[in-house]
Amino acid sequence: MSDQAANLRRKMEMSRSIKRAKTLAIVSGKGGVGKSNFALNFSMTMAMKNKKVLIFDLDIGMGNIDILMGLTPKKTIINLFDQNLSIHDIIELGPNSLSYVAAGSGLNQIFSLNEDKFDYFLSQLDELMSLYDYIIFDMGAGVTEESVHYILAVDECIVVTTPEPTSLTDAYSMIKHLTHKRFNLPMSLIVNKAPSQKIGLRTSQRLFQVVQQFIKKEVATIGILPDDSTVGKAVIRQTPFVLYAPKSSISLAMNRIVDQYVRDYSEQDVKETVPFTHKLKQFLKKGRLS
Ligand SMILES: Nc1ncnc2c1ncn2[C@@H]1O[C@H](COP(=O)(O)OP(=O)(O)OP(=O)(O)O)[C@@H](O)[C@H]1O
Ligand SMILES: [Mg+2]
Repeated sequence: MSDQAANLRRKMEMSRSIKRAKTLAIVSGKGGVGKSNFALNFSMTMAMKNKKVLIFDLDIGMGNIDILMGLTPKKTIINLFDQNLSIHDIIELGPNSLSYVAAGSGLNQIFSLNEDKFDYFLSQLDELMSLYDYIIFDMGAGVTEESVHYILAVDECIVVTTPEPTSLTDAYSMIKHLTHKRFNLPMSLIVNKAPSQKIGLRTSQRLFQVVQQFIKKEVATIGILPDDSTVGKAVIRQTPFVLYAPKSSISLAMNRIVDQYVRDYSEQDVKETVPFTHKLKQFLKKGRLS
């Protein structure tokens, strides 16, 4: 084998052995559009398809992923700092080995850590990158001066909207704001609570067009989820809807979305971008200086 070929092979083997999680932030302009339910059920469906997924609750003050799963976390992100724990000590396991990190009250601390604590937090996050296929951050509605750094640093930002005009205009403002901060931030759209597939499609096309025309960016839709009373019932039972009613129309739609998402996503893309933790550090530094 020539030197060049051997080199190429070694490089390919190295890139195969270093797994890097794809980081996703689930965001919205308006509140209550279904981000947390989407984040949880999207993650759970991936976990059911043998993907290693960690869902990270970053909704300051209102984290509720654990409630939606019917679990009481023993540890939260706050304990990482208060008790000098490792990230592995605060990861909880849900059904299908879905891992999650609960928010805990006082979560806003993690947006204003001193340098030492922040470096520790980053080193802990770094460890997770090689252990998971996906790390999914459930964010609060809108964007704050602090949470924006986390959103800007991810590999992809999924904007959730409903067909309601107020939700759509807020989604547009959110996309505009984030694009202004980082033009090349990959973004995609989920239309949730669609009264019909037709209305869902019309919503996604309308948003695509205005974003393309006025922001000069393409935000493709990765799926449309119906308005389905199953969600409310599953929330009351504190069970993700994909487990509560796997044959319901919303669970079937989620299955199709995940299948297509996993098929379209190339691991190579993630390996070739700057890692999440590096970007997070850069954005935070920039934010502190500006
Ligand atoms: N596809 C759906 N069909 C019907 N109801 C839904 C659907 N998705 C979410 N809901 C309902 O909408 C409400 C808000 O959902 P959720 O908490 O997931 O929204 P959120 O965007 O995370 O809210 P917040 O902005 O407060 O974090 C819940 O009562 C949930 O039952
Ligand atoms: Mg939420």
